[in-house]
Amino acid sequence: MERRGFLEACALISGGAALAHARVVQGASAPRRYARTRLVDIHGSPIRASGLAAETNYVFHYPFAATPCFLLRLPWPAATPAALRREDGGRYEWPGGVGPDRSIVAFSAICAHKLAYPTREVSFIRYQRDRSATSGGSVIHCCADHSVYDPTQGARVVSGPAPQPLAAIVLEHDVAKDELHALGTVGAEQFDAFFRKYEFKLGIEYGGRSRAPVDGTTVVRELAQYCRNTIQC
Ligand code: FES
Repeated sequence: MERRGFLEACALISGGAALAHARVVQGASAPRRYARTRLVDIHGSPIRASGLAAETNYVFHYPFAATPCFLLRLPWPAATPAALRREDGGRYEWPGGVGPDRSIVAFSAICAHKLAYPTREVSFIRYQRDRSATSGGSVIHCCADHSVYDPTQGARVVSGPAPQPLAAIVLEHDVAKDELHALGTVGAEQFDAFFRKYEFKLGIEYGGRSRAPVDGTTVVRELAQYCRNTIQC
């Protein structure tokens, strides 16, 4: 990693433990910074990292009003950084999980294949705890075309047609307050393609504010509360 990129990564991944365990990947691109945003519940109170239920799908929007992300507490620590590649060949490093046992991770919920994402009506993509007829367990599985991602490895592609990992959301854990902040992304963002593909739909839903930057706080909900139908496969 170039010195400038490394320093930017150090500044961005300021959650302590994540940086302490980070490896240096030669030539890796740095995380992309967005507004430091506190994760809160529907009442505006900060989410407590230690209060998150394991293996439960949580959804929040970041870094734009209409771009959904998954927040997950994995059943075991994800303490090891992962060296990953984007479809364009660019390399980057996923810093690993944060939180008391480094099991908390976040990823863009926009599938890297054809951009399926959780809507209020339906979600084809979700964390899947148990093995199914079409994949193993403890994975993020998009039932649209069966792209399967490993959330313990930066959402690396396990199987299926997705050409690259899900973009990761860089999190910061405030140890003293046990709060979580989103800081930016690392990996291949799908945001431009997402806004192009769903321009008409998002225009109706968000009234022209779909690309509004998320700033200050973002609300975290269980996927079951956010979305009426979660497809299982
Ligand atoms: S859109 Fe997710 S696998 Fe095709």
